[in-house]
Amino acid sequence: MNREEYEAKMKQGMEDIVTDVSQFVADSVMLNAKIREMPINPSNADGAEFIKKSEIPAYGRDTDEIGRELIEYVFDNALLCQHPRFFSFVPGAVSPHSLVGAILADVYNFHGGGWSEAPGACAIEEKLIQWMGGLAGYDTEKCGGIFMSGGSMANMSAMIAARDTKLGEKDFPIGTVYLSDQAHSSVRKGIRMIGFRNDQQVLVPTDDNFRMRTDLLEKAIEEDIAAGKKPFAVVASMGTTNTGSIDDLYKIGMIAQKYNLWFHVDGAFGGSMLLTKNYKSFIKGIELSDSLSWDTHKWLMQVYSCSSLIVKDKQTLINSFAEHPEYLDDLYDQDHVDPWNLGPEMTRPHRAIKLWCTIQAMGTEMLSYVVDYSVNNAFIALDELLRHPNWDIISKPSCGTINFRYAPSSLTKEEIDDLNGQISKEINDTGYAYIVTTKLKGKRVLRICAINANTTADDVRSTIIKLDEIAQRLTNNI
Ligand SMILES: Cc1ncc(COP(=O)(O)O)c(C=O)c1O
Repeated sequence: MNREEYEAKMKQGMEDIVTDVSQFVADSVMLNAKIREMPINPSNADGAEFIKKSEIPAYGRDTDEIGRELIEYVFDNALLCQHPRFFSFVPGAVSPHSLVGAILADVYNFHGGGWSEAPGACAIEEKLIQWMGGLAGYDTEKCGGIFMSGGSMANMSAMIAARDTKLGEKDFPIGTVYLSDQAHSSVRKGIRMIGFRNDQQVLVPTDDNFRMRTDLLEKAIEEDIAAGKKPFAVVASMGTTNTGSIDDLYKIGMIAQKYNLWFHVDGAFGGSMLLTKNYKSFIKGIELSDSLSWDTHKWLMQVYSCSSLIVKDKQTLINSFAEHPEYLDDLYDQDHVDPWNLGPEMTRPHRAIKLWCTIQAMGTEMLSYVVDYSVNNAFIALDELLRHPNWDIISKPSCGTINFRYAPSSLTKEEIDDLNGQISKEINDTGYAYIVTTKLKGKRVLRICAINANTTADDVRSTIIKLDEIAQRLTNNI
């Protein structure tokens, strides 16, 4: 290999690829227009096999061929999670504005660590964080935060701020943190990742609506204090993954104040409820929190990865994360706090640009509409389920989410669990809708999370009708 060959390759890259990629990007931006007619399942089951058998070439290959292979074996070989009838995980639509913002940010590839590299982009991030903090009832002058890869990173970083604010180093071994048995696994993982043992996490039981039992929270705190432990944080869920339940933020906030605990709200899923107009009472007490995780790549139509951690007092993040190495001395910006001093990452993309594009193009009123519209989808699912016999409602609609199962009285508990697993498999195999099961109070249940902005009432109703047909057929064969 020599320099000439290198330069020829890069030149070809710029000229040929740009044309092909522009067409591909234009097609992708238009995906939403035809997505409803597309199957959700991968069309090419051999994709992973093909890639496993591929070689890492010593000499570069033709870019057309690489592109064709990628489309066939990679892009057409993945679940279409942004499909309006993909009801699993915490799904979400992708707004074309977010896509454009993401592409622009990648094309320019700014270093997202410091203000001196890309001041406009940093100002976007700061402004959005202030807006989000304001929605949570934080003082916009004092709050701060950072965009992160996902809720997992945001939750872990919040726990670092909590630990450093509320515990002296000598108390790390006796610190305890409280979360409900429905809290997301990333919270538990994050607490472990920052060095706490499992026995320093107290899983507080939930009530019939899958919300943290605040009486048991307070009891656990009292018992731990009496045992010489040092409670330092409580994590509430604003939208649990299983059921979309929102903990009683007000009561938990008051308990946090009483015992001087850091109050973190995991709003990775339900943070977008801050935009609700119709369901405001559900999030009363959010203003009492010290920090909030909010994934806009879930409910607010953002391309991955677009999560955020917002804290009531920016200084707490600076205390935990700021470092001043000599090789950054010349880039130090006296007027601003650089993002690399607010979180764990140094080199990072400017994730906030895509959300900025979306909000500028759509406006907050439309985003509020989208949130309230999709909360209602779970009530539509409930209405349709109640029209058909044998469907048990296991969790009430919350944050656009509902859990239910087909449970004819003639079947045993084991048969019902198996039947619902089979219903999930069959609906998924059709490619029409995608619904996986979860376990609630020992029961295997079907879960619909319908927060994709493009999901219509018809998508929800037609899916339930198909589930019912499958359920009846399978039951007749038992
Ligand atoms: C409530 C909740 N918290 C945290 C997370 C983790 O977020 P991420 O997958 O973006 O890391 C999720 C993911 O679904 C979630 O639902």
